[in-house]
Amino acid sequence: MSRWITQLRGKFLVFDGPDGSGKTTQFDRFAEHCRQAGLGVCEVREPGGTAFGEQIRRILLDPASPEMSVRCEMMLYMASRAQLVEQTIAPALQRGELVLADRFISSTLAYQGAAGGLSPEEILAVGRIAVQSSWPDLTVIFDVDETTAARRLVGSAKDHRYIKVFGPTLFSDRLELRGAEYQQRVRKGYLQQAKDAPQRHLVIDSRNDPDSVFETLLNRLQERFA
Ligand code: TMP
Repeated sequence: MSRWITQLRGKFLVFDGPDGSGKTTQFDRFAEHCRQAGLGVCEVREPGGTAFGEQIRRILLDPASPEMSVRCEMMLYMASRAQLVEQTIAPALQRGELVLADRFISSTLAYQGAAGGLSPEEILAVGRIAVQSSWPDLTVIFDVDETTAARRLVGSAKDHRYIKVFGPTLFSDRLELRGAEYQQRVRKGYLQQAKDAPQRHLVIDSRNDPDSVFETLLNRLQERFA
């Protein structure tokens, strides 16, 4: 095993970024890379990741859900997170596995905070109850400009619900009406988090093709953990 990869035992890494940043592609590749290297990996995704969490995810993303206040939305993400931490993340860290999370509290700070208008203090107050002592060692933020993100989302059509955000109405869900300006605030929210606590964040420019983004990711992580 590469020496730096062994340093990831018992660590908690989050991969996060705006919709269309390509974080999930990098997440899958990195998890596989660590497994190939012999590391025990616990993968989780938010919102969801547990039976309860998946039910909450459905409520949050369901177009039939009634209008929801941003506070209610934040509490639901946190409720899903509390369950995930207690049921999966904390035990995996105890076992010495690498925990890899696709989104975590950084998403709430960017979406419900920077874009949705809640203060970081409010979010962190609830976050402390949900997360307890299981805070990420490092949050990797995949940064992408809105045009590239929109092209990716429309191109892949994987995330049907986002298409309207950037273009014509093809599909719909509760998050659809937020618009390009909202996405810009989300992006700024992520970059601000990295600026405020550079030692706990890593910003990766993810405009390039997945292979070169992955290479950059490995190099930057190696610098941090070697
Ligand atoms: P996903 O597409 O990565 O599965 O994420 C689902 C959506 O949920 C995405 O638009 C971001 C949003 N989200 C929040 O708004 N706040 C949060 O705390 C989390 C975890 C996700």
